[in-house]
Amino acid sequence: MNNIVLCGFMGCGKSTVGKNLARKTGRKFVDMDAYIEKKQEMTVSEIFEKYGEEGFRDIEHEVCRELAGMSNLVIASGGGAFTFERNVKVFKGVDTIVFLDVSLDIIKQRLKNDTRRPLLQRPDKDRVMEELYNKRLPVYRGAADIVVKGENTPLKTAFAVINAVKLK
Ligand code: S3P
Repeated sequence: MNNIVLCGFMGCGKSTVGKNLARKTGRKFVDMDAYIEKKQEMTVSEIFEKYGEEGFRDIEHEVCRELAGMSNLVIASGGGAFTFERNVKVFKGVDTIVFLDVSLDIIKQRLKNDTRRPLLQRPDKDRVMEELYNKRLPVYRGAADIVVKGENTPLKTAFAVINAVKLK
């Protein structure tokens, strides 16, 4: 309740912006993926390997429900979380959902050398990113209460979020 939840594509800066935002607003920061990893005592990649993406999504949903029950957090969601209606429903109207909007070109640059994200560990990574990005962007927009451009420094973007949330 009363949390600020950042959503958006992998690499849009949910965690780095979220940490700055938490510091500036005196809220506690929770990174959803890190929370899942601690709870399961496994990395996200290990969870995908052992239970498949579907298993990961079920754990993610459970964690969304758990976090929405807490208060005054800044939550950096996983990039796939808000593409599932069941997770949007958990947060909608209870917390403020902020979509960090970053262009595909910048995302590609930022994720060029990524080894941590199971969905991107494949030779046709650029094509997968493009497809996912185009499919997901309207979904993030639809889920969000507020859209903030995330192409500035994390600190500047955090201030942009603070102003947008105040104006809402
Ligand atoms: C995913 C994004 C990741 C992580 C998992 C799946 C996705 O989070 O939850 O690899 O489906 O976009 P980040 O957005 O923090 O990379």
